[in-house]
Amino acid sequence: MKEITLALAKGRVAKQTLAILEEMSVKFSEFTEDTRKLVIWDDSKKVRLILVKAVDVPTYVETGAADIGIVGKDVIMEDAKDVYELLDLEISRCKIAVAGFPEEEMEKRPKIIVASKYPNIAKQYFESKGRQTDIIKLNGSIELAPLIGMSHVIVDIVETGNTLRENGLVVLEEIAESSARVIANKAGYATKTEEVQKMIKQLREGMAKMN
Ligand code: PRP
Ligand code: MG
Repeated sequence: MKEITLALAKGRVAKQTLAILEEMSVKFSEFTEDTRKLVIWDDSKKVRLILVKAVDVPTYVETGAADIGIVGKDVIMEDAKDVYELLDLEISRCKIAVAGFPEEEMEKRPKIIVASKYPNIAKQYFESKGRQTDIIKLNGSIELAPLIGMSHVIVDIVETGNTLRENGLVVLEEIAESSARVIANKAGYATKTEEVQKMIKQLREGMAKMN
């Protein structure tokens, strides 16, 4: 078997994915939640884990730096890359939504000002509805934008809804559902078919064991 490189987002996705693999006796003993190490081999030295920023996972996979990656559908939708999407891991479930104040009446505005970490998703969504927008790209704390009058609404992910609630905002419209997806490099899938398929099988069976 050839070695295989797996790109995971630092944080909860990494922790949950490794828990799934552990069910299948693929162990990364060197991994801890607060590790600062960026490259970690599994105990049998077959799988090389690289820990990266979520938004960069598709880039590592598209370029072939990683054979496989796990990343949210939100990231895939925002910046589509030329990779295979092979499996829905059903973790990190959330909604991508338009949110704002409960009294917001978007349809009455000639132009809606939207703040988002997902400018492409936001632009596509409003265009599909035939609505005019100005989109402001932010990198975090998106919920702040309507509170301080920077935007009318936001497009962001909603998981528990706590951030919206604590800031007096509500979901106005749902755009899509998101969850973590397994993606693979196209060339790597051809040259390491057996290894990639084995990893997919381990993830699928590990998932089933956990549920
Ligand atoms: C994410 C997202 C929402 C929040 C959703 O933000 O952008 O703000 O989590 O989760 P909830 O519905 O459970 O509150 P994150 O905490 O990653 O911070 P950031 O947006 O400032 O990067
Ligand atoms: Mg946030």
